[in-house]
Amino acid sequence: MKPNRPSQTALLIARTTLFWSFDAEAATLIPPGAAEVTRWIIEATDPNAAVTIARMQRPIVRAASRLIERILLPGITIHYLLRKKYIAEVAAEALARGVRQVAVIAAGFDSLTYQLHRQFPEVLFVEIDHPATQSVKRAVLESRGSVGPNLGFLAVDLSATPLAEAMKAEPRWNPSAPTLWIAEGLLMYLDESDVVSIMKTISAPGNSASELVFTFMCTRGGHVAFRRRGWLISRLLRWSGEPFRWGIAADALPAFTEACGLRTVEIVEPGELRRRYVPASLEAHLPPADGDTLCRARVVPPSPKPPEKRALGFMAGKMDVRGDIVHASPWLESGEPKRSE
Ligand SMILES: C[S@@+](CC[C@H](N)C(=O)[O-])C[C@H]1O[C@@H](n2cnc3c(N)ncnc32)[C@H](O)[C@@H]1O
Repeated sequence: MKPNRPSQTALLIARTTLFWSFDAEAATLIPPGAAEVTRWIIEATDPNAAVTIARMQRPIVRAASRLIERILLPGITIHYLLRKKYIAEVAAEALARGVRQVAVIAAGFDSLTYQLHRQFPEVLFVEIDHPATQSVKRAVLESRGSVGPNLGFLAVDLSATPLAEAMKAEPRWNPSAPTLWIAEGLLMYLDESDVVSIMKTISAPGNSASELVFTFMCTRGGHVAFRRRGWLISRLLRWSGEPFRWGIAADALPAFTEACGLRTVEIVEPGELRRRYVPASLEAHLPPADGDTLCRARVVPPSPKPPEKRALGFMAGKMDVRGDIVHASPWLESGEPKRSE
């Protein structure tokens, strides 16, 4: 990120949300209220917002925009809507099973917590984001929307301040309570050591009712890039000051998260998102934006201390090679993560 300038990729995602809200079919993929919030953001950040928004609705401009997308990164703008839909479903599930803390790391201009905090006043929602992005969003929501006391904001540069340290600034935050963590479109911009630090902070309390849903760049042949036009997008991102830094192959991800105390339960690739959510009529002109992939992972509870050697004969349970008792947990039963391509 360039200092003192809101994230350009977050702005791009906001613009594409508003763009698709003018398409009757694609608009069904956008949650109620999200288009209005993104319009506020555009009005606050674009001095010619009225012209930009009017242009977005002109057939010729829409056709040209889609052509440019096809040349640059086909399918990416609908992909943004789809990954948000998946995350909204994970959030709905978590709230339904009683999670009362939700943290969105690098929320950008996404409006999920803004919508949810009004529906669930008993749940604490916290957005953590770079100060340059968050200051814009916060001012917009406070001036044009109505922000309740259960929506907190933490302005933090995660490359300078560890997440664990940052969370201390929210006095209502309970680190050991069941929590849903969301990190959409963030980890690829961080160094691996920062990714590990974030994952370990999330898993440290060992609460197996907590989970993390995140996106990552799925590498092939070691390159952290989109599969189509990867070199071109990487250049544009470098130029905008937001280059990709971290990615991992889908096959290697479960071992990586496990080492950070998180068990991967599902990996969802762009093609699968399309199959799940996109109406057939929209699908015809949209290739999947391969590379940007979703993962859902649950916190692994700490294993109990190794028993005294002489007590082993009386213990029921399986032992692993280190002598730890391996307990079945409802979260961990499934063994292999589901992988949906
Ligand atoms: C691609 S946007 C994603 C925004 C949002 N999650 C979404 O998907 O719509 C990247 C986000 O990462 C945030 N970000 C990038 N580097 C960061 C850093 N070092 N510390 C905190 N946030 C950072 C930006 O401010 C921005 O909100």
